[in-house]
Amino acid sequence: MTANALLHALVPLVDDLARDLAEGERYRRLLKAVRALVPCDATALLRLDGEWLVPLAVDGLSGDTLGRRFKVDEHPRFQLLLQSGGPTRFPAGSRLPDPYDGLVEGMEGEQLEVHDCLGCVLRVGEHPWGLLTLDALEAGRFSEHDLDILQTFASLAAATVSVADRLQQLASRASDEHQRAEIYRAAAETSPRPLLGQSAVIRRLLDEVRTVGASDLTVLVTGETGVGKELVAQALHAASPRAARPLVSLNCAALPEALVESELFGHVKGAFSGAVGDRRGKFELADGGTLLLDEVGELPLTVQAKLLRVLQSGQLQRVGSDREHHVDVRLIAATNRDLAEEVRKGRFRADLYHRLSVYPLRVPPLRERGRDVLLLSGAFLEENRSRLGLRNLRLAADAQAALLAYDWPGNVRELEHLIGRSALKALSRQAKRPAILTLTAADLGLEEREAGPPAPALDHTAANSAGVSAQPLKLAVDDYQRSLIVAALRRHGNNWSAAARELGVDRANLARLAGRLGLRSAASGS
Ligand SMILES: Nc1ncnc2c1ncn2[C@@H]1O[C@H](COP(=O)(O)OP(=O)(O)OP(=O)(O)O)[C@@H](O)[C@H]1O
Ligand SMILES: [Mg+2]
Repeated sequence: MTANALLHALVPLVDDLARDLAEGERYRRLLKAVRALVPCDATALLRLDGEWLVPLAVDGLSGDTLGRRFKVDEHPRFQLLLQSGGPTRFPAGSRLPDPYDGLVEGMEGEQLEVHDCLGCVLRVGEHPWGLLTLDALEAGRFSEHDLDILQTFASLAAATVSVADRLQQLASRASDEHQRAEIYRAAAETSPRPLLGQSAVIRRLLDEVRTVGASDLTVLVTGETGVGKELVAQALHAASPRAARPLVSLNCAALPEALVESELFGHVKGAFSGAVGDRRGKFELADGGTLLLDEVGELPLTVQAKLLRVLQSGQLQRVGSDREHHVDVRLIAATNRDLAEEVRKGRFRADLYHRLSVYPLRVPPLRERGRDVLLLSGAFLEENRSRLGLRNLRLAADAQAALLAYDWPGNVRELEHLIGRSALKALSRQAKRPAILTLTAADLGLEEREAGPPAPALDHTAANSAGVSAQPLKLAVDDYQRSLIVAALRRHGNNWSAAARELGVDRANLARLAGRLGLRSAASGS
């Protein structure tokens, strides 16, 4: 080969170094150049990945070669190539098995007995990056001169793969940074509220959050829906030495089963259809920080097993990869399910349950927090006041009493939504925009909710004759009173004063009772 021909083959590659090519295209051009320099039947570029050699580009080898992986210690030729400092030739007589036997195109079903093979390690910095291999079907095709050419070519090939690597790293770092930025942005948007409460149960909870937060223990946060489990998880993270690192959350209930694993552990390109690139999972993103597994009770059993393995070893594998990644993550799990009960029912693994509940933390329901209801209401009123541009937004005495009497099945979230909704409705009812808006019990409408919609007149004689009460006493009494009032009103043509007289109560008292029973609109309409 003349120096001119050599330059002709190499210059386009040097050119490529400065170009923004897709990884695959860059490698294809590399193989094309080497084939132009050293004519042969097949070439391959393989990347060293731990104990494996992974073909990244092939030319002249059957298409399925790209899907194969070669374990280095099972392929003595590859081992030798990786160990030797420069290009090596395996002549036809070599007794070492050839990893490409049967893979060279056009040789279907036949053994590659007559064969000439050249290979060279590519180094990036001090480390072997992978191999470049050349194969010929005819013995004695390659000469000493070809070895020299390959030697020259190898350093350019190393520059090519190193550029491709660097581009790939930049792209994946950019995507990581993007994911991280999203996490920080989401955290900033929902800047954690302080965990409010002065009741004894909440003070105890806050003490525990401070103590266990500072440790690295895995915490299982439990409690009814809307009690503030997520807020508690944020407070635990904020109280930990990891506070400056990200708190990454994964809502286990919000993902289809097929995606949970990849969300948790990440995946490599091609692991499944749609996996167009490598992607880190939440575990890796939370490295050095905290991972919140929200609604952990919804994790499918198959993923539970994999999660357990990661928790035991601290090592994880991305979906579709054999490589292990070490992660340093503090775990917090949250659920509104009774996980012990889920274990008994066989829906949750006992071993995982024990791993997660190293420190169980129960967030008490709102109905156990006494006057905290008013304290929380104050915070939500203030938020709404500022949002609605009012000078003041306050609760009337009867509204405070109604809030304290209600039992809050939806807990703090229900309270938050109720205040927001009532403020908006009360404001829209005003003819003129007031500076100060006072929410009354009627604005909150809690009694209506407790009593449910007005029931049809109750046939209490039938209930009596059956001798059973189908509902709690208070509801039954409410129903009975409602039916009496509705019947009296009907008899007196909706005249409230006449109905009150017949029922033997003061008219104002009747109106108030009707209001509580959800007949209020009828009462005010009289
Ligand atoms: N102690 C508290 N102080 C202030 N705000 C609170 C408190 N507890 C809960 N909240 C607020 O109530 C809402 C519901 O809280 P959060 O989402 O943490 O509940 P959760 O227990 O995770 O509910 P779920 O079980 O439905 O997921 C949030 O807006 C949260 O900020
Ligand atoms: Mg939650």
